[in-house]
Amino acid sequence: MVEYIVGDALEYLHGLSSESVDFVHLDDAWARPQRSGGGFGITYRTHPFNSSDAALVEGEPGVDTSLTVVEFLDAVYDALQPGGFLALDTDSYLISRASNYFQKEWPGHCQFTYTVTSLTSDGVPDRSTPGMYASSGGYTILLTQKDATPIPQSHPAGGRHTRGCPCEREHRDWDWGTVKPLAPYLDLIQEYTTSNSRIIEPCAGTAPAVIAAEREYGGSVDATAIDIEPDAKEAYERRREEELPRQTGIGEWGD
Ligand SMILES: C[S@@+](CC[C@H](N)C(=O)[O-])C[C@H]1O[C@@H](n2cnc3c(N)ncnc32)[C@H](O)[C@@H]1O
Repeated sequence: MVEYIVGDALEYLHGLSSESVDFVHLDDAWARPQRSGGGFGITYRTHPFNSSDAALVEGEPGVDTSLTVVEFLDAVYDALQPGGFLALDTDSYLISRASNYFQKEWPGHCQFTYTVTSLTSDGVPDRSTPGMYASSGGYTILLTQKDATPIPQSHPAGGRHTRGCPCEREHRDWDWGTVKPLAPYLDLIQEYTTSNSRIIEPCAGTAPAVIAAEREYGGSVDATAIDIEPDAKEAYERRREEELPRQTGIGEWGD
């Protein structure tokens, strides 16, 4: 069943049975200095990477230092099955912090980077949004597989790993600020899940991974999006209605 829950995603993750989830997409509401209120189009509340980073963003508009990205990552670790994947959207600020964290805290994990290249309609890298994710012509998804050594034989990923995807930048926002394209998440869902996988998207916004999962497997897929803002769910509903029926081969599905 596809479900969109309005509520606190950390609370939701803590309520899951341990080792019950196969794939998580997390595009967290992380804070970095001057990101919130600094003209980067961030309208939702953000939180620092960890408690030592809190001082860097303390007092900035919309920053809630009572919560950290690391708390989400710890909760995802508990929820994931051995061999399960976390796809974490990053930028240059977040990737090194996240990578160091996985190194220390997720024993036996494997990390892969997946590059999303945002293209203009002329097919060249789009660098037109200074200060946002796509300012360098795209962004990196850090894929971390829990307990990957050895990779369980039964896992859909086996030994193969996909490396990235060029796709048109997402120009529409369904009234929800910075929205990610769908094509990369469809690619990751195809590569790292099966129709029986349990897929979770905390801090979902317009929930690109959940829309991609429904697109790939139909409405009976076990996919849950969670966002604290009711308006995010409404944006998801508008996006889903418009994008789910689209054919692959055109537009932002990017095939
Ligand atoms: C970067 S945005 C996600 C955008 C999404 N990837 C998309 O393409 O639409 C981060 C989201 O996290 C949500 N959020 C922030 N704190 C949250 C929390 N504690 N629980 C659930 N959602 C939260 C915000 O409302 C926001 O929608």
